[in-house]
Amino acid sequence: MRKPIIAGNWKMNKTAAEAVALINELKPFVAKSKPEVVICVPYTDLWVAKEAIKGSKIKLGAENVAWADSGAFTGEISAAMLKEIGVEYVIIGHSERRQYFGETDATVNMRLQQALKNDLKPIVCVGETLEEREKNKTKKVLKKQILEGLKDVSDFTNIVIAYEPVWAIGTGKTATAEDANKTIGFIRSLVKKTWGSEVAKSLRIQYGGSMKPSNAKELMAMRHIDGGLIGGAALKAEDFASIVNYKG
Ligand code: 13P
Repeated sequence: MRKPIIAGNWKMNKTAAEAVALINELKPFVAKSKPEVVICVPYTDLWVAKEAIKGSKIKLGAENVAWADSGAFTGEISAAMLKEIGVEYVIIGHSERRQYFGETDATVNMRLQQALKNDLKPIVCVGETLEEREKNKTKKVLKKQILEGLKDVSDFTNIVIAYEPVWAIGTGKTATAEDANKTIGFIRSLVKKTWGSEVAKSLRIQYGGSMKPSNAKELMAMRHIDGGLIGGAALKAEDFASIVNYKG
């Protein structure tokens, strides 16, 4: 059985003070929730968030990690820096990083290897753009992102994949549950073909893209969907809690 995992991706939102307020609001709502609950917050919020989540079941994540141990990489944050705070998860290869900051499948793979080497649990994001979707290239794009992004990985125990169709992010447009399930099913079959059926069976794959209280239950009911990576709706305690508690 794959344990569902609902993760918030705060992106570039919330100052440290705002982060503490949001976490304090969220805590009682998720005290009894069944899925694993993660919040991935800006680097500047990590220390205060670590303190604020104490005594709750919320786990801490970052939104990126450097591929090198240390050195002349202005603006980057290393795995050791994250580990020292107590960060458990890290988002890698989000489409916004690919779109605005030149992230490629090769750099995704370098960051992923670094996360694994340091016992951080990576949430690796993949997904096609609207143009790629309209040209019927979804499978081809996902295949490349997965085979190159996860190249040379042998242990999948700590890895989560997030399928986030770019056209559904922040747009209010969600893939239909059937559509998302079908595409995530394709990802699972690709993983099976490449890394074997045990990996495919146990690997958790999330859906992300305008997931909200009104569609979470339907998406989470799908066979291949093991969780959600939530943007906008993770910024409101009640909305995020209602997604986490999708079972009621
Ligand atoms: P939205 O939920 O705001 O569409 O964002 C999804 C996302 O990018 C999560 O990583």
